[in-house]
Amino acid sequence: MDLQLSGKRALVTGSSSGLGETIVKLLAAEGAAVVVHGRDEARTAAVAKSIREDGGDATVAIGDLGTDAGADAVEAAVADGGPVDILVNNVGVYNMTMGWANSSPEDWAEIYNVNVISSVRTIQRFVPGMRERGWGRVIQISSVTGESPAASQPHYAATNAARNNLAASLSRELRHSGVTSNSVAAGGILTPAVQDFLVNLGRQNGWGETWQEIEPNLVNALGPNDVGRIGRRREYADLVAFLASPVAGYINGATLRADGGRYDA
Ligand SMILES: NC(=O)c1ccc[n+]([C@@H]2O[C@H](COP(=O)([O-])OP(=O)(O)OC[C@H]3O[C@@H](n4cnc5c(N)ncnc54)[C@H](OP(=O)(O)O)[C@@H]3O)[C@@H](O)[C@H]2O)c1
Repeated sequence: MDLQLSGKRALVTGSSSGLGETIVKLLAAEGAAVVVHGRDEARTAAVAKSIREDGGDATVAIGDLGTDAGADAVEAAVADGGPVDILVNNVGVYNMTMGWANSSPEDWAEIYNVNVISSVRTIQRFVPGMRERGWGRVIQISSVTGESPAASQPHYAATNAARNNLAASLSRELRHSGVTSNSVAAGGILTPAVQDFLVNLGRQNGWGETWQEIEPNLVNALGPNDVGRIGRRREYADLVAFLASPVAGYINGATLRADGGRYDA
């Protein structure tokens, strides 16, 4: 399928690593000009360089989206290359060792700021231009924990409910404008950091020694699904690229779950 992304420009927040890196590389490979964003200058520049080496069009924006000043810096860096047509709000933090007993009110406020208000900052800076031009795509990356929270990471799960909710509200705000707003609620995403954490957890719990041994056991224990494994980054990126494209113009205000058919243990 031709996603018709040539001529579009996309900003993917938090694309210096993890899922965001895979999304920004895929959008570039599909023909979009992309802005790679992060706080770490070297990591962010390395992703942009690799896209350019593969023949893509990539620039860089650095800034902490947990602050207004950081968001202003991102806006200024992005403005140099022209308007943004596609905004993927992927920045997010989580901490798999936190629960009700060890998360302070400050932790709840901080994660809300980084995972939710960061998106408000980018939406308010980049979406008015999309509305004026009559076309745009806004995509929140969230997690299935927004709809199906576990006992662990309650503060993180609450931010995912908020991410889904704000995506739907934004679609109402943008009605009849040509700009759509959706959320992708992801199940587990196999990033290098997640894999390292889970291998250690698996060994502690006697689920195996190698990743191949551990993966099915940890999926059964922590979040069983009908596919029987954790999602790969490219599987989520493919869905985001589709939503970002002109082809997906009739999908709006939705939270799309990609979780292998997750069910409660
Ligand atoms: N991993 C999972 O299993 C999973 C499951 C469901 C949903 N998600 C969601 O998927 C998204 C990406 O997760 P990931 O696992 O790929 O994370 P990751 O590898 O830790 O990457 C996070 C990215 O966000 C950036 N970032 C973090 N805080 C920032 C801030 N205050 N300002 C600007 N940039 C900031 C980081 O940039 P720098 O390092 O350059 O600062 C990095 O590029 C998150 O929103 C997460 O909630 C993840």
